[in-house]
Amino acid sequence: MTRLDKVLVTGGAGFVGSHAATYYRNKGADVTVLDNLSRTDTLETADEDRDTSSYNLQFLRDEYPEIEIVEGDVRDADLVEDIVEGHDGVVHTAGQVAVTSSLTDPRTDFEVNAEGTLNVLEAARKAESDPAVVVASTNKVYGDNVNDIPVEERGDRYWYDSPEYQDGIPESLSIDSCEHTPYGVSKLAADLYVQDYAARDVVDAAAFRMSCIYGPRQFGNEDQGWVAHFAISTLRDEPLTIFGDGKQVRDILYVEDLVRAYDAFLSDPEGKSAVYNMGGGSEKTTSLLEFLDLLESTTGNRSDITFDDWREGDQKVYVSDISRAREELDWAPQVDLEEGMRRFLDWYQDR
Ligand SMILES: NC(=O)c1ccc[n+]([C@@H]2O[C@H](COP(=O)([O-])OP(=O)(O)OC[C@H]3O[C@@H](n4cnc5c(N)ncnc54)[C@H](O)[C@@H]3O)[C@@H](O)[C@H]2O)c1
Repeated sequence: MTRLDKVLVTGGAGFVGSHAATYYRNKGADVTVLDNLSRTDTLETADEDRDTSSYNLQFLRDEYPEIEIVEGDVRDADLVEDIVEGHDGVVHTAGQVAVTSSLTDPRTDFEVNAEGTLNVLEAARKAESDPAVVVASTNKVYGDNVNDIPVEERGDRYWYDSPEYQDGIPESLSIDSCEHTPYGVSKLAADLYVQDYAARDVVDAAAFRMSCIYGPRQFGNEDQGWVAHFAISTLRDEPLTIFGDGKQVRDILYVEDLVRAYDAFLSDPEGKSAVYNMGGGSEKTTSLLEFLDLLESTTGNRSDITFDDWREGDQKVYVSDISRAREELDWAPQVDLEEGMRRFLDWYQDR
């Protein structure tokens, strides 16, 4: 295990990235953030109270003035090369995050997610400081193969109706022969580059295929970050739309647990895998209906709910099998949903 001294976080003004930045700063590392502050545009349909990048940027400036913040774009290969040099760890979270935007503008999505990741890997390959790299990948790389797994209804939730998947989806699920969104494709391209650089031993790198991550300083909307979206809407007594019947199940992971997993890889990458499924696993799951109940019992509020048609490709169950991360990274999620939501709600109400 080596303690990292200099860590670069791309997308560090975002939700996950800002938590990675503060985690390493709290451990005493020198931290650099690279972000183009584009998240403001992504959320242009949401109200300004939910502007992720500028909120997190201000938070870092106020609370962590020692963190160096560089406003720049991961599509700029020269800039990325300059910045990566000198760091011993890179957390690459910068990305185009919305499936909807990837459908209307697949080229930008590709350039940011696929080329941006290639730029980071190339910069790491060339850097004399030889940094290890973790890349924020996504469970969307499995495309609609996940929908071929049979599910059954169990009260207020669905669950896998197959003995093979009781612990969730493992990394061995095929990424081929299925439909993907452009977002899924660009993230998969990035994920494959990571695997290639790792397999050729050019860079110590791993792709973390994340499911739902939640925690303070996240501002969700209908496209991304549903946990935050539901919680904030509930607190503000705003109506919510559920697409489908609300019995769909997701595993969810508190953001600091995710960052600990990143660190477990970065501080000891030798002999590790290049891909990890990352989420709360089969022990930390919720259906949407169960989650609304939890919110009601914690806040006393319940938003008006409208049910709408299932969205195309929406999964009835997505749960990550996190056995590989548990074993190889000696890691386990620690924060329960109740505790994580308490922290989220405290943060939101304190703002
Ligand atoms: N949050 C989740 O539940 C989740 C799940 C699966 C995968 N992911 C992946 O994790 C990463 C981080 O997600 P998040 O929830 O923190 O999103 P976020 O939108 O809060 O953060 C992304 C950050 O990247 C920045 N960015 C975007 N394009 C950039 C570019 N071209 N150059 C530099 N910076 C750029 C944005 O300004 C933003 O601050 C993304 O790559 C996303 O695809 C997140």
